[in-house]
Amino acid sequence: MKWSMLLNRLFFCCIPLIVQCYKELPNESLRHLAKFTDPERLAVNGTLMKPLLVERVSGTSANIRVREYIVQHFEDLGWHVELDEFTDATPFGEKQFANIIVTQNPDKPSRLVLAAHYDSMYQPDFEFIGATDSAIPCGILMNIAETLDDLLSDGSIHYRQKDKTVQMIFFDGEEAFQQWGPTDSIYGARHLAEKWESSIVTHPKKVMKNRLDQMEVLVLLDLLGTPNAQFPNFYRSTSWLFYKLIGIENRLNNQSILKTVSSKTGERLISMFNPNSFLTFMGEAIGDDHVPFLTRGVNILHMIPHPFPSVWHNRGDNADCIDQAVVENLAVIFRTFAAEYLELDPLPHNEL
Ligand SMILES: *[C@@H]1O[C@H](CO)[C@@H](O)[C@H](O)[C@H]1NC(C)=O
Ligand SMILES: *[C@@H]1O[C@H](CO)[C@@H](O)[C@H](O)[C@H]1NC(C)=O
Ligand SMILES: *[C@@H]1O[C@H](CO)[C@@H](O)[C@H](O)[C@H]1NC(C)=O
Ligand SMILES: [Zn+2]
Repeated sequence: MKWSMLLNRLFFCCIPLIVQCYKELPNESLRHLAKFTDPERLAVNGTLMKPLLVERVSGTSANIRVREYIVQHFEDLGWHVELDEFTDATPFGEKQFANIIVTQNPDKPSRLVLAAHYDSMYQPDFEFIGATDSAIPCGILMNIAETLDDLLSDGSIHYRQKDKTVQMIFFDGEEAFQQWGPTDSIYGARHLAEKWESSIVTHPKKVMKNRLDQMEVLVLLDLLGTPNAQFPNFYRSTSWLFYKLIGIENRLNNQSILKTVSSKTGERLISMFNPNSFLTFMGEAIGDDHVPFLTRGVNILHMIPHPFPSVWHNRGDNADCIDQAVVENLAVIFRTFAAEYLELDPLPHNEL
């Protein structure tokens, strides 16, 4: 991802507001969802995260091993798994890439799409792990899937939404090999957005022309896991979802579910969401995997902190910079967000 600061370039994009009802879960359901947190799964040396925290540069065998690990995780859950494999020219010659697309119940027409990139930056001078960039975001997505899977299973009384499901995209080739630019960066996202634009989708109940139309919103996670992260509210079209996240953080906090995080100002929880950042509604300022989807009219929720973590693209971005409490808080916030968006309630009998 690249901080390009193209603020002077006006960007016109017609993004329709997603019109839907969004129901907040009762306090008991929030507490129940929080119980699905298994700290061992979210620890940097734990069973879920550890295999992700390795060098995994696109086109290398280590990248393929991480890809296989992610694929296996979703095959074990019984999700539909698809690889978008392609080759592209890079400053170091032709390379092979593969995006991983996983979908729970692919027959449902509309998708909440959660995404992160699984490749790590090429760095010839030292071992670059990219824990925040984006091993931890990938692990958080895998954890959302494993913790919500029982509720999502088709026919479950917990799952009221008939037309909506969750899809996750693990992008390959996000990082530039040499220098960030239009042909050296976001290889996977560029390939997939173009491919999906020319796909054809028909659904008996819903008018949609291609797979981009199936994406109600693309939630892209990047640079997560360090304390003091502050997310700007980048887009008008998804501002209401940004405020839902603020509400979730407050409600989880009031239920004493979120953990305190040690920070410069002491042991207390500071909101991760900053609606008053100078980047408010400046979504075009930061280049990342969302851009090829944004330019094709997809609604974007970009969960990337600004300022970037101090370890960004340097040797410090490894397991040591990751704060376990932050990862657990993010996991429960995005798990709750996905549950509320999809109208999943772990305690449906409590509803009126
Ligand atoms: C949920 O908990 C909050 C804070 O503890 C409380 O103010 C609120 O009334 C509760 N909501 C319901 C529906 O009980
Ligand atoms: C991870 O490391 C912590 C301490 O650093 C240790 O207590 C824990 O047992 C380790 N877990 C695994 C799965 O190795
Ligand atoms: C929850 O806590 C926040 C502060 O963290 C407070 O502003 C808000 O009013 C509380 N909400 C409820 C329902 O208690
Ligand atoms: Zn990066």
